[in-house]
Order: sequence, then structure tokens, then C-alpha cells
Amino acid sequence: MSNYRTNVMLCGGTGCIAGGSLKLKTAFDAEINKRGLQNEINIVLTGCNGFCAEGPVMTVYPDDIFYEKVTAADVPTIVEEHFIKGRPVQRLLYKEPLKKQTIPLTKDIPFFNLQVLRALRNKGLIDPEKIEEYIARDGYQAAAKALTEMTPQQVIEEMKRSGLRGRGGAGFPTGMKWEFCSKVKGDQKFILCNGDEGDPGAFMDRSIMEADPHVVLEGMIIGAKAIGANKGYIYVRAEYPLAVSRLQLAINQAREHGLLGDDILGTGFNLDIEIYQGAGAFVCGEETALMRSLEGKRGMPRPRPPFPAVKGLWDKPTVLNNVETYANIPQIILNGGDWYRSLGTEKSTGTKVFALSGAINNIGLIEVPMGIPLKKIIYDIGGGIPKGRKFKAVQLGGPSGGCIPEHLLDTPVTYEDIVQTGAIIGSGGMVVMNDLNCMVSVAKFFLEFTAEESCGKCPPCRIGTTVMLDILTNITEGKGKPGDIALLQDMSQDIISTSLCGLGQTAPNPVLTTIKYFKEEYESHIHEQWCKTGVCKDLCTFYVDEEKCKGCGACKRVCPQAAVAGEKKAAHRIDQSKCIQCRSCYEACKFDSIKIGPLSMREALKETTDQAALRDKVAATLAGKEE
Ligand SMILES: Cc1cc2nc3c(=O)[nH]c(=O)nc-3n(C[C@H](O)[C@H](O)[C@H](O)COP(=O)(O)O)c2cc1C
Ligand code: SF4
Ligand code: SF4
Ligand code: SF4
Ligand code: FES
Repeated sequence: MSNYRTNVMLCGGTGCIAGGSLKLKTAFDAEINKRGLQNEINIVLTGCNGFCAEGPVMTVYPDDIFYEKVTAADVPTIVEEHFIKGRPVQRLLYKEPLKKQTIPLTKDIPFFNLQVLRALRNKGLIDPEKIEEYIARDGYQAAAKALTEMTPQQVIEEMKRSGLRGRGGAGFPTGMKWEFCSKVKGDQKFILCNGDEGDPGAFMDRSIMEADPHVVLEGMIIGAKAIGANKGYIYVRAEYPLAVSRLQLAINQAREHGLLGDDILGTGFNLDIEIYQGAGAFVCGEETALMRSLEGKRGMPRPRPPFPAVKGLWDKPTVLNNVETYANIPQIILNGGDWYRSLGTEKSTGTKVFALSGAINNIGLIEVPMGIPLKKIIYDIGGGIPKGRKFKAVQLGGPSGGCIPEHLLDTPVTYEDIVQTGAIIGSGGMVVMNDLNCMVSVAKFFLEFTAEESCGKCPPCRIGTTVMLDILTNITEGKGKPGDIALLQDMSQDIISTSLCGLGQTAPNPVLTTIKYFKEEYESHIHEQWCKTGVCKDLCTFYVDEEKCKGCGACKRVCPQAAVAGEKKAAHRIDQSKCIQCRSCYEACKFDSIKIGPLSMREALKETTDQAALRDKVAATLAGKEE
């Protein structure tokens, strides 16, 4: 790298490629050739940088200038202005979402500077397709140390000291898992990597596999040494083609360099690793189902014990760890377990990668020390809620997780604190919701996913989730019945306690947490036929509060049905016979003049022009003052 005056780290992760970063690379190469700058400027296609919503992104070194939403048309300007004249192109710099202030340097952007990178330490810094670049960042030194200087027990002790817990969801201590397997006698053992990543919205593992595939291999080599395995498989869903191709390239390169195969580094230790592509069923991420799937059978969980450490793949002792778990291991071996646990809390050590999405300004992938309060992630790193809207809840842990409300935002992000709220850390999905989200619909969305993905082996999960989904659907369609909330809670407990695998055991969590923290929304859906957020179209009526309306016409302009009428600067009205409850007017009105009333208002509004009187009447009815 030092031969070049300028190194451009252009993101070549899935998100930025979809946004055109390969075209950008071609355009840069052409422009640089045209100007004869090949020996001065180096364009490197990296893996995901993390700030995907701003993509395609790139960082220019040594200046540390961060550019976002770059297009091929911007290339000549960047080369001319920045690379030749030294003047960064202002319009492509990051703008702080609230103050709209431009921040040129990566190190000054809060999204980046509040993170601590361990599992993601190489993201955006190396070309994932070149083993030399991984090696230049200390790559394979930990494997060499584990193979040449350490006994399996010493490797395990270091892992135990680190306190690292599996990042795939359950948070089981990695050192303990390895120790169980190492103690089992067996002529053949397997080391597996779980890159299935079935949680909707999660892309932590994909990003690591794409940006730093060698770190996964190195973690597996160390694990294999610890347990005595000489065969490994990486299970990756086939929807991740870039991860698969970069991993395959990494495996080939590692073999060529004597880091995989027979007699690794002359130590007499043998290990080979292969990739297995899964068909993308959520349940195949569950460890026993994953192993069945790898054997070429239908991916269905089986009861444990026996645990895979004793009887796993082809009934041989097996260790399965998650991609992010493996990405932490080389640094633990190099720097020691005590170094690892110097961040985080006593029981949740180190850092964790989260995928921040939903109603948040800075959408992307972050790595933070465990124990950081949720509020800091959402407001300081995530930049808060767009368009000045109000925070409502954050959903943690994907379909197995739960929704955490505003009054619990000081909760530290640790396995034990998050579980107290009813959610789980899971694999690290974090979906932020604002006041426009209906929590009954949110619960329904996640249950739709789990009911669809249930493998069907056990009735509580197969039938229970479907019945719960029917109840939730009825509630959102105005067919909810008194007693439904208690029924949902009872069924949840039954499904949790009687399901065979983690899918069923956690599927009710989103329902339970939304009932726990947002019960009044369920009640208003059932008893008042009213979805106050306007999401459930069957349960809401949009009308204009004529006293507040300024007559700006914004609602009229966005209405797809031409249902809004009114002169400029005069109160507007909604024609209920045309309105399809799309909520566009509600979101467009800056004066809080569009209101969402219960279903019962709809017919009445068609018949009267006195909207204020009607509104008062309905309010009185809902307050129980009238029959
Ligand atoms: C339904 C279900 C889906 C799962 N999906 C994944 C997954 O996609 N990736 C993953 O690493 N772990 C997943 N897990 C957890 C795995 O069963 C297993 O605990 C994990 O891969 C072990 O690795 P770790 O100890 O490093 O976390 C899933 C579990 C369940 C019950
Ligand atoms: S809990 Fe659900 S997904 Fe798991 S084995 Fe039973 S039916 Fe299959
Ligand atoms: S957008 Fe709001 S203030 Fe403007 S006309 Fe519509 S209801 Fe009135
Ligand atoms: S909810 Fe949609 S259809 Fe109805 S008035 Fe508003 S913008 Fe028009
Ligand atoms: S894919 Fe480019 S930042 Fe994530």
C-alpha cells in the first residue's frame, strides 16, 4: 500500500454492488489509466464497510475522507478535484442527518467513531480476495501460534478466559463447548461454521464472510486444533453468492499457502474445509437441523441430548460455531483472553455486531462493546429517528426476540439484561420503530415468519403458531374477541414449554413482549375497533381536524384517491367514500391536523359535515360516557 500516494477503499459488499460499485471501479480504473496515475492511485474493492444505507461508499486514504452515494458520473470530478488538486468533493461528503452539517473525515462521523472493531477489524481495509492483505493485518499468526506453541487445552483455557459467548443466538460459552468436544473420544471429529443467517434483517455474518473470509477460516483452524477435528464445513445459504465465492477463493488460497490441507505449517496437523450451500430454510440454522441438512437429509431438528459435541454430523463429535464467533477467535489467541474481556461486562464480554435498521437515521452494521446502553446505540451511533418522529420501540433478536419500549432504553446491551426485558440479543438484529408502527401488526409480521418457517415436526409449534397467527390476523381485521389477549398469552406459554427446538421455543416472544408493553394497542383493536397508528386499514378512519388545519394542501397533493378536497388556506375535508386508508395524508401533514379515528367514525363521517361535533361524539363514546 505504501507505494501509492492515495489508496481508495471502495466498498464491494453486496449492498454497494447493488448500488453500482462495480461500475464505479471500472470508471475509476479507466479515469486513472487515462490520466496515467496507475502508479499513484490504488483502487481497492473491499467488503462491506457497514454504512450500507449510504452506499456506494468509499474512503480515501491517507486523507480519511468518506464519500457516500457515489455514482460513476462523479468519478472524473473526484479524480480531478480530490486526487489531483487535493480538494475533496463537498457534495459527496457525509451529512449529519439532524443538523445537516457536513463531516468529511471518517474518524469524525459518530456512526464510526463510537464503534470498537474486533470481529469487523478488517472491514473496509483489505481486499478480501487477497490472502496477502489478510496476512499483512496479522492474519494466520494466531493459527500459527495455536498450532506450533499451544496445546489444545491451552487454546481452550484462553477461550474460557475470554468469556466469549457464541454469537449465533443462544450465547453459549465457546470455550466450554470446545472443551466438551475435546474430551469426547473419536477417530473422526468435525468443525462446522454456521453461516446460514436466517433472521430477517440480519446481515452481520454475510458481511464478515464477504469482507474478511480468511478470519472465518483461521477461527475454524484454531477450533479444529482445540477439539481435534480434521474436517470442516461452512454452511452458507445459497442466497449469499458473493460470500460463497469469496470463501471459496479464500479456501483455495489457504490451501496453496499450506494453511489448509495436510501437515499445516509443518506441524503434522491436517484440516480441510469445504463449503456447503443451504437452500435457505430458517430452521436449517438450528444446529441439529443444520447437521442433518449437511448429511443431505431433510433439515429437521432432533432432540438433545445427545449434544452434537458427542453425536453430531454423521453421529461424530462435532462443534458448530457462528461466523461472528469465529471472527473473534484469532484476536483472542493473539492478544489473550484477558484482553478480550477488558471490554464488555463480567458475563457478556467483548463486543457484538448489530444490524441497525428500521426507523433510524444511520442504517447499517455496527460493532460495539457489550454493556453499551440501547439509547447510545439508537441516538448517538444511529443518529436518532428520521423526520423528527417519536421513538416507539426497538425489536431485538429477530423473530425469536422481542420489542423493548422507550422507558427501557437505558438497558445495557448484555445477554442477561436484555433477557430481563423479554427480548434476546439473538444474532444481533435491531429494528427501530417509530410512532407510525402498530405493535399488533409487528407481532403478526414476526409470527407470520415463524409459522411459515416451522418445520412441522412438533404440533405445538406447527399448529400453535398458526392458530396464534389467525388470532392476530383477526385482531388486525376487526374480528378480535374479548379474551383473545389472554388466549395468546396462554398459547405462548404452551408453545414455549412444549416445542422441540429453539424456533418454537422462542416464536411467541414478539407477541408476549408487545402484549407486555403495548397492551392498550391490542385492547383498542379488539374493544374499540381502532388502530390508532392507522396501519390496520380495517380499523381506522382518517379525518381532518378542521380547527387545526392550515389549508396548506399537502394532504391533497399526496392523496392517491383524490379523496381530499379544500381551497388553499381553508380547512380541508376527506371524502370517506373515496378514502382507502393509505395514511399518506397523515404522514404528509406538518400541522398534526389529520387525525386517525376508530372504524365507527367512517359511516358517520360520510353523512355529516359537522366534523368537530362528530369527533367529540366519538371521543365521548370511547370514553364510555354514552352508549
Ligand atoms: C431456528 C433457529 C435458527 C438458527 N439460525 C442460526 C443461524 O442462522 N446462524 C447461527 O449461527 N446460529 C443459528 N442458530 C443457533 C444455532 O443453533 C447454534 O446455536 C449456533 O450456530 C452455535 O454457534 P455459536 O455458539 O457460535 O453461537 C439458530 C437456532 C435456531 C433455533
Ligand atoms: S419447534 Fe417447530 S421448527 Fe422446531 S422441531 Fe418443532 S416444529 Fe420443527
Ligand atoms: S396537510 Fe394538514 S394542514 Fe395542510 S391542508 Fe392537509 S390537513 Fe390541513
Ligand atoms: S388516507 Fe390516503 S386515501 Fe385516505 S385521504 Fe388520506 S391520502 Fe387519501
Ligand atoms: S455493502 Fe457497502 S457499506 Fe455495506
